[in-house]
Parts: sequence; structure tokens; C-alpha cells
Amino acid sequence: MKTIIVIGGSKGIGKAIVSALLPSNKVINISRSSPEKNHENLTHHECDVTKDVLPDIDAADGLVYCPGSINLKPIARLSIDDFKNDFEINVLGAVRAVQKYLDILKKGDQPSILMFSTVASKLGMPFHASVAASKSAIEGLTKSLGAELAPTVRVNAIAPTVTNTELASKLLRNDKMVEKMNDRHPLKKHLQPEEVAEMATFLLSDKAASLSGQIFEMDCGIVSFKL
Ligand SMILES: NC(=O)c1ccc[n+]([C@@H]2O[C@H](COP(=O)([O-])OP(=O)(O)OC[C@H]3O[C@@H](n4cnc5c(N)ncnc54)[C@H](OP(=O)(O)O)[C@@H]3O)[C@@H](O)[C@H]2O)c1
Repeated sequence: MKTIIVIGGSKGIGKAIVSALLPSNKVINISRSSPEKNHENLTHHECDVTKDVLPDIDAADGLVYCPGSINLKPIARLSIDDFKNDFEINVLGAVRAVQKYLDILKKGDQPSILMFSTVASKLGMPFHASVAASKSAIEGLTKSLGAELAPTVRVNAIAPTVTNTELASKLLRNDKMVEKMNDRHPLKKHLQPEEVAEMATFLLSDKAASLSGQIFEMDCGIVSFKL
């Protein structure tokens, strides 16, 4: 049984990852609020990754970093503080987590790290300047750390399109918006957090032993196809 640290497992994609991992892994969740779920394999540490010291943990085989932002504004309305705050939660939180847990991960069983980008790093979309800048940094971090930590620790990222979570609730707030969003995607759908969790659990597992330094676009075709 592996032990996986999930930062941001109380909601959204992280919550779905925790649920998918729990039957066969120990999960250590770190977030500001507690996960709703109680399970003998689940422990929780309350922590704000932007302010608090990350908790000490003795052993782990995987690390998932989920916190992120969708801060969409025209460039004229994006302040420097917007860029700094987005970088803080999307990138520096992940860097702190990697630095804090790298020594224990290196001692783990086929260890790996998983982070989150977005389709907006590859696909230019209006109003995404700040989040795209931060998530492009995550993609660079994934490649760089993948190389630096090979062959001991694998490092990958998932770049999802719109996923039905609290973070994206403004983009999917009524049936018309959902229909429009689905229509923009060649596969005529958006993502459910459980689908992203399937990919995440695969990447954390030994089945993905040959994959590192990769960014996996879960894009419902929006980056890959021009129809
Ligand atoms: N949803 C989408 O459409 C979408 C699209 C592309 C990329 N992504 C990326 O996918 C990742 C997951 O997104 P999501 O939609 O699942 O987000 P979410 O619903 O906002 O969930 C984020 C998780 O991170 C935790 N978190 C947030 N800020 C934190 C902090 N300061 N300290 C500790 N924990 C914190 C939250 O828990 P607490 O509030 O309890 O702290 C929550 O468990 C993000 O990196 C996001 O940028 C999402």
C-alpha cells in the first residue's frame, strides 16, 4: 500500500483523487478545510500553503499538488498583485511542497509527483494571461524536475480543460453556459473531476513507470483538434 500526500484533497479534482486512491492507498490530505469523507486510510492536516508551515510527514510515495486559480481578466485589469497571487498559489505552493517532501519521497516506493497545469498554457485564450503564465511555469517545473530527479522520482502534470468543480463554477453556472462550453470542445463535453482522478491515479501508480516530465492534456479535443 502506497502513501500519497494530496495537497488540496478537500474539494474538486483533489477530492476525486482522494476518493479514487483511498481503497488501496494511505492518503495524507493537506488543505484549509477538512475533507467531508472519513476513512481509516485518510488523515488530514489543516494548512494554508500560502502562509503556514507544511506539516512534517515521515514517509510518502507520492505527492499531488492541486491548489490553483482561475483569475480571468483583461490584461489592463490584471494588477501585478494578481500575477503575484496566482504565481504564489499555483507555483510557489508546489515548489514549497516539493522542497519539503523531496527527501521522504526519494526514500519511497517508486515515488512520483503530480501537478496541475491548464489547457490555457498551450491554447491562447483571451483573459487568461495571469493563470496561463503561472501554469506555464508549472509545465517548466514539471520538465525540469523530471530531468533532475530521474530515475528516482517521476514528475508529471495534467493540463485539464474546464472541469466541473467549485473553482470553475462561474464558467458552468447554468444549462446554457454548460451547453456552450460543451459545444466549444470537439468531443462536445467538458470534464468531470472523477475523469481527471482516473488519470491522476494512473500517473501515480507503477503502471506509469515509464512516464516522467510529461504534460497530459485532458482537453476534450480543444487543444488537439481544429475541426
Ligand atoms: N476546474 C477547472 O476547470 C480547471 C481547469 C484547468 C486547470 N485546473 C487546475 O486543476 C487544479 C485543481 O482544480 P480544482 O478545480 O479541483 O480546484 P478547487 O475546486 O478550487 O480545489 C482546490 C483544492 O485546493 C485546496 N486549496 C486551495 N487553496 C489552498 C491553500 N491556500 N492552502 C491549502 N489548500 C488550498 C482547496 O481546499 P481548501 O479550500 O479546503 O483549502 C481544494 O481542496 C488547480 O490547480 C486548477 O488550476 C482546473
